Amino acid sequence: MLEAPPPLWAAAALGLTLLGLMVFLCRRHWAMLRIGYNEFLLQPLRNLLMGDSKEQRILHHVRQHAQRGDPQSVLDAIDTYCSQKEWAMNVGDKKGAIMDSVIQEYRPSLVLELGAYCGYSAVRIARLLPPGGRLLTMEINPTYAAITQQMLDIAGLQDKVTVLLGASQDLIPQLKHKYDVDTLDMVFLDHWKDRYLPDTLLLEVSPSPTGHRGCPDAQAGG
Ligand SMILES: C[S@@+](CC[C@H](N)C(=O)[O-])C[C@H]1O[C@@H](n2cnc3c(N)ncnc32)[C@H](O)[C@@H]1O
Repeated sequence: MLEAPPPLWAAAALGLTLLGLMVFLCRRHWAMLRIGYNEFLLQPLRNLLMGDSKEQRILHHVRQHAQRGDPQSVLDAIDTYCSQKEWAMNVGDKKGAIMDSVIQEYRPSLVLELGAYCGYSAVRIARLLPPGGRLLTMEINPTYAAITQQMLDIAGLQDKVTVLLGASQDLIPQLKHKYDVDTLDMVFLDHWKDRYLPDTLLLEVSPSPTGHRGCPDAQAGG
């Protein structure tokens, strides 16, 4: 009987182990792999070919499919585009429905959002605010902040929402004096996770969120 040399056995064993590991990772992290493939391969290719960005394409889709002054149609257009064409980091309709129920239960008048991106959650929150209610949303990326503003204009919610361009850690200390904010009824943390704790601590010494103890879900972003 022919015997394979030991290095060949070792190579075969290594190959099988790697294959097993790949199958395991693919099954376990399929969604992440798909997002990675879209974000790092397909999307840059699309950007290059079409000369725009995913966020501009989302806005374009909203312009084409939503009714001006109808926030729900803006949300529907974003949800449709992002579930069928390109994934995006909006809170989305499932977590959005949880947000809706929290807002409907607590009826906040003054809400702060950290992380606006394309304005999906800003539209979602603002459409449920009571008359005179106000949302402040902070966004560090100027392109995203501009898209958020346009999204709010299309939804007809521009009078209820102020988009603040800048880093949360710089803007929070200005809330009191520059934006006349004394207390907040609700805070939606949905920016980068490493800022959740420092910004919460910062908020405790700046305007204090009044409702956060009785309403822990309202702070659970991401
Ligand atoms: C997950 S996205 C927000 C999604 C949005 N809330 C929605 O559901 O439609 C996170 C956003 O936070 C912004 N961001 C990250 N760090 C920030 C900071 N320190 N201050 C303000 N915005 C920040 C990012 O640019 C990004 O647009």
